[in-house]
Amino acid sequence: MMGRIPEEKIQEIRERLDIVEVVSSYLPLKRSGANHQGLCPFHGEKTPSFNVNAPRQIFHCFGCGVGGNVFSFLMRMEGLSFPEAVRRLGERVGVEVEEETLSPVEEKRREEVERLVRINEVAADFYHRILLDEPEGAAARRYLRERGYDGEAARRFRLGYAPERWDALAKHLETKGFDPALVREKLGLVRPGRDGRSDYDLFRRRLLFPISDSRGQVVAFGGRVMDDSLPKYINSPESPVYHKGRTLYGLYQAKEGMRQTGEGIVVEGYFDQMALDRAGFGNAVATCGTALTAEHARVLKRYAKRLLLLFDQDSAGQKATFRAMEALLPEGFAVAVVALEAGEDPDSFLRKRGTEAFRTRMQGARPALEVFMEAALAACGDSVEGRARAVEEVMDRLILLPSDIERSLYRRLLSQRTGIEEDLLRRRSPPPADAPSRQDPVRPVSAPSSRPPARPKETGAGTRAQELLLHMLDGNPEIRRKVAGEGVESFFSDEDRRGIAERLVEDAEGESPMQRLLDDDRLSEEQKALVSGILIRDAQIYAEDPEAIFADCRQAVVRERLRKRSKELPGLIRQAEQSGDREALDAYYREQIEINRTLKK
Ligand code: UTP
Ligand code: MN
Repeated sequence: MMGRIPEEKIQEIRERLDIVEVVSSYLPLKRSGANHQGLCPFHGEKTPSFNVNAPRQIFHCFGCGVGGNVFSFLMRMEGLSFPEAVRRLGERVGVEVEEETLSPVEEKRREEVERLVRINEVAADFYHRILLDEPEGAAARRYLRERGYDGEAARRFRLGYAPERWDALAKHLETKGFDPALVREKLGLVRPGRDGRSDYDLFRRRLLFPISDSRGQVVAFGGRVMDDSLPKYINSPESPVYHKGRTLYGLYQAKEGMRQTGEGIVVEGYFDQMALDRAGFGNAVATCGTALTAEHARVLKRYAKRLLLLFDQDSAGQKATFRAMEALLPEGFAVAVVALEAGEDPDSFLRKRGTEAFRTRMQGARPALEVFMEAALAACGDSVEGRARAVEEVMDRLILLPSDIERSLYRRLLSQRTGIEEDLLRRRSPPPADAPSRQDPVRPVSAPSSRPPARPKETGAGTRAQELLLHMLDGNPEIRRKVAGEGVESFFSDEDRRGIAERLVEDAEGESPMQRLLDDDRLSEEQKALVSGILIRDAQIYAEDPEAIFADCRQAVVRERLRKRSKELPGLIRQAEQSGDREALDAYYREQIEINRTLKK
């Protein structure tokens, strides 16, 4: 939302900063050789693999693979965008980043967003005061107390109460000078009156949960009735500041807990989130009346590696669980499912049975895929067709796993459960040599994520060669010219690494272009982490024969091409089968066998 910050400004701020000092304000660092080390704040660990390098002003964690410069550090640590991080660090060293010139359209958008957030904030305060202090809020206070929540909980979550008056908020916002059209048309907090009557509040006689973004700014509300009337909840409509597919209720309160444990709990209800928080599970978030999306997954990835799903046990809840699993697995999360009795949710369970019983359930969480496998086998019955269908369904999910090892373990499990030979299952799955590219999942499961997992998934010889080549490109203009001449695509099979190489050869005459890439906003955070990994390691490992590296890289490219082809083949084979084209079928089979043989080598 913010415009570009001039390069000189960024440079000036960078020069005044010391990454060691900035990182030290978040976690203790100890000197160790050329680096400073500490416990990584981005994943749980007991021995330090988080390194900060002062000469290069970079950080890198060998445990979870994240890394970058001082700006990336703050972005990750505080969940900020790049301009926000620059601004924040600028404040720290007394460099003011003045409002940059935005295009008129951007400027307008930004002003509107600020105004909308401001309105939501004022509305939240208004409702919150009524709940805490006003006679009108007495029934809501009683309702909360009966469900076991005191003033402290109400304050922590800024809960509110929307009174019965039909235009309480509309009036309040008007006296504060806000444009009624914005409130009505953009936020939907006020509804247009029909037949010449005046506008009226969306929320009336409801307990309100303000929904915040990761910075704690209110972007929407959910409102519950206090009796059995329907609808039980109504929610703010989507708006320029509220996208429910990206928003998680309680994230602002839970992000620290998730970061510390590396683990998050995902529930369905506002009350469930609050109940968990109160019981000491400070790492829970709730979806806002919607399925968990790939966008949610990307938000969560900033904070956690393992997620526990705690959805309702009815059939809708189970569907939601498996859909969530499909959104989460491609992002590299470990996903586990916690089952409560039918009809219970975390809030009611905690009330009835207490924290310890709940903790025991959490420890009994089971891997989501295992649960899925059992459900699929149970649902499809014992007939041959049924079992075949169940196997297909499970196999379709297995390809979402980023790790070969895990995939192979599940294949074994599936084979044990169904009596189908593992070999057969392997043939049905994508090419064996490496993880499938996340870019083209075999079937569209929710919105496929366009980003690879944060942790570099490939560690094979080809990948290592590509990293060595990147390092050589950085230090050696001659090699840069050679690679540019032949084309980076001949050397880099991996998309992330190829992108980095492209940037490096662009700057053919530069001294050491690599370091600068950390500020290049054309690179993803994952790519920057790769770069920091190469930069921080360099002295230790890089002394290799260029020709051997070229050869390894070229080979990786060839293998990648074969892998792609071998992913197309099953489709072609199916087509040939359907059209009865024996000749093509034969050719495809032979090609498949040939490819498999080459890839095995
Ligand atoms: P639940 O019906 O499970 O409610 O809906 P709950 O959160 O457990 O609330 P209590 O315990 O009965 O008070 C789960 C979530 O689904 C969304 C809300 O986000 C709710 O928290 N929802 C539910 C709606 O958006 N609208 C509805 O009418 C019902
Ligand atoms: Mn409930």
